Amino acid sequence: MSMILAIESSCDETSIAIIKDGELLSNVVATQIEMHQKYGGVMPELASRLHCENVIFVLDEALNKANVKLEDIDAFAFTRGPGLIGALHVGMQVAKTLAMLYKKPLIPVHHLAGHIYANEYVKPLQFPLLSIIVSGGNTEFVYMKKDMDFEIIGETKDDAIGECFDKVARTLGLPYPGGIPIDKLSKEGEHTYKLPFPLHDDSLNFSYSGLKTAVINLVNNEKQKGNEIRVADLCKSFQDVAVGMIMDRLERALKLYDIKQVVLAGGVSANSYLRSEMHRRLDNSGIDLIVPPIWCTTDNAAMIARLGEHLFKMGITAPIDISSDPNWRIDKYKEF
Ligand code: KG4
Repeated sequence: MSMILAIESSCDETSIAIIKDGELLSNVVATQIEMHQKYGGVMPELASRLHCENVIFVLDEALNKANVKLEDIDAFAFTRGPGLIGALHVGMQVAKTLAMLYKKPLIPVHHLAGHIYANEYVKPLQFPLLSIIVSGGNTEFVYMKKDMDFEIIGETKDDAIGECFDKVARTLGLPYPGGIPIDKLSKEGEHTYKLPFPLHDDSLNFSYSGLKTAVINLVNNEKQKGNEIRVADLCKSFQDVAVGMIMDRLERALKLYDIKQVVLAGGVSANSYLRSEMHRRLDNSGIDLIVPPIWCTTDNAAMIARLGEHLFKMGITAPIDISSDPNWRIDKYKEF
């Protein structure tokens, strides 16, 4: 029997969740999206300040919703990385303060591993598993031979896919976070613009900066010629190529690795075209697919709580002088 309180503050969501023996008692998320929208992306310093302002209210609400007191908590989990250093620091300091005050263990949780384990809210993970992590800051294929065993088998060489969606959206004058309007507009558009496929090689790696630059150049050239941009068509053309890169690498991974289940993780896993492509490829293939519910695709502490429980059972706790790591690798989740 254990009850864990988890804090997520890696980017622009302040979130606290409470879990008791696998049952999620509360998951409160305060998003800062509106505050960052006018800058067209997340302003790191502003994110840290807003975490400081919001965290106490989020904590109160999480405790009230779960109907528990801080004295009842057995361990405090927090996102140690990857993420924005200032933002991570706020969540970590809150977790440390509570752990010291209530003399309870501190559990450092890897944000992307949390995204993978969020899929346990849908159904049990089955190994060997391929996890496709697609978010604002990361694009990785992580292979798991067994539970809590992470091997990065492919990663982006430059921009993350979500970052690319956001920058393309900004170029087209669409609001932040750009993945959402691009996804929506793509449904009304046709693939009429020619864009280069980002990476032709035998690896499982990704590249998105060339695709982003190609869209920016195309927009500038069309404007110079006095041509109007067909925004929905460009969104569809871009999205096809961005998602096509993931599907190309998936095909290669399926040939190279023994895979029983594929799980999607991260903010871009909300993309409707990526979801439908995954179903098209994997349904009736004998390989199981987990697509996380939309609430789980954006950052939240429920996923940190879920993974925090596993780590607590494994006896993985941190010393009180632990620091955040904005570049923490998933295969080093036991090293801090
Ligand atoms: O997981 P997340 O919060 O980022 C990190 O923690 O790094 O995901 C945010 C990203 C943003 O880049 C946003 O544009 C993208 O997820 N996103 C989408 C969609 N919804 C959010 N991208 C494509 N299609 C969507 N429907």
